[in-house]
Amino acid sequence: MPTIDQAKRLVQNRSNIVVLTGAGMSAESGIPTFRQAPRGLWAEYSPEHLATPEAWQADPALVWGWYLWRMGLVRAAVPNAGHVALAMAAETHTIRIVTQNVDDLHERAGSGDVLHLHGGLFAHRCFACARPHGEVAIPDSGTTPMRVEPPRCAHCGGLIRPGVVWFGENLPEAAFTQAVAASAACDLMLVVGTSGIVHPAAGLPLVARDAGAAVVEINPLETELSAVAHVCVRGSAAAVLPEVLG
Ligand code: APR
Repeated sequence: MPTIDQAKRLVQNRSNIVVLTGAGMSAESGIPTFRQAPRGLWAEYSPEHLATPEAWQADPALVWGWYLWRMGLVRAAVPNAGHVALAMAAETHTIRIVTQNVDDLHERAGSGDVLHLHGGLFAHRCFACARPHGEVAIPDSGTTPMRVEPPRCAHCGGLIRPGVVWFGENLPEAAFTQAVAASAACDLMLVVGTSGIVHPAAGLPLVARDAGAAVVEINPLETELSAVAHVCVRGSAAAVLPEVLG
């Protein structure tokens, strides 16, 4: 039986589904994945370098410029058919989305209660006092200069930083605790668009499998998590999810 039919059958007879998504979930919305060659003026920079406290301390304007560029990309993007299929499936199944993505495309597709393990691109806060900061002006992604001085905190004057989790920083405790509990309680986990390289998020499929859930990977390529999955559907999120959830 083709893997997509196996996945469809698993969805049909399971009711408590957790969906772990990564950058591949938003690829068909035009958002470059982390390990795909980055596009545009940032081609010579690696996310692993820029998404770090060290890069921020060394050159906050460069890091802030990179995030403004990414905010512009996300603002210009629209949820793809995969995001929409997940939102619609919540009408007939218990669907809990646990995402490594910092974009808001799941929410804009209509999914509620999305657990963001790596923070959010639009949840800015003060680097010094951690107070949340409001909206910032987001230039069109095609015109963002490389260096933009970050805004200052109205309370303490500290620099405003992106509300994402940088390499070396801890994940938001509440979100991760909920994600582990949901993974241990689900009867099916869909793993969509992640290379499975970055822990602890990448450990969640094994938590689900060890707890007796079926695990289905949806990814055009083999990944670190393929061996954990019971079924591997080699296809894209926007093509496969509407089929599997429909
Ligand atoms: N549909 C499904 N999967 C896709 C698609 C698509 N259209 N296009 C690409 N992919 C897959 C790739 O094959 C790859 O396995 O998406 C995955 C993207 O992997 P990464 O770029 O490593 O992104 P991700 O797994 O989300 O990275 C995890 O690492 O850089 C940090 O914090 C960052 O959250 C990120 C984390």
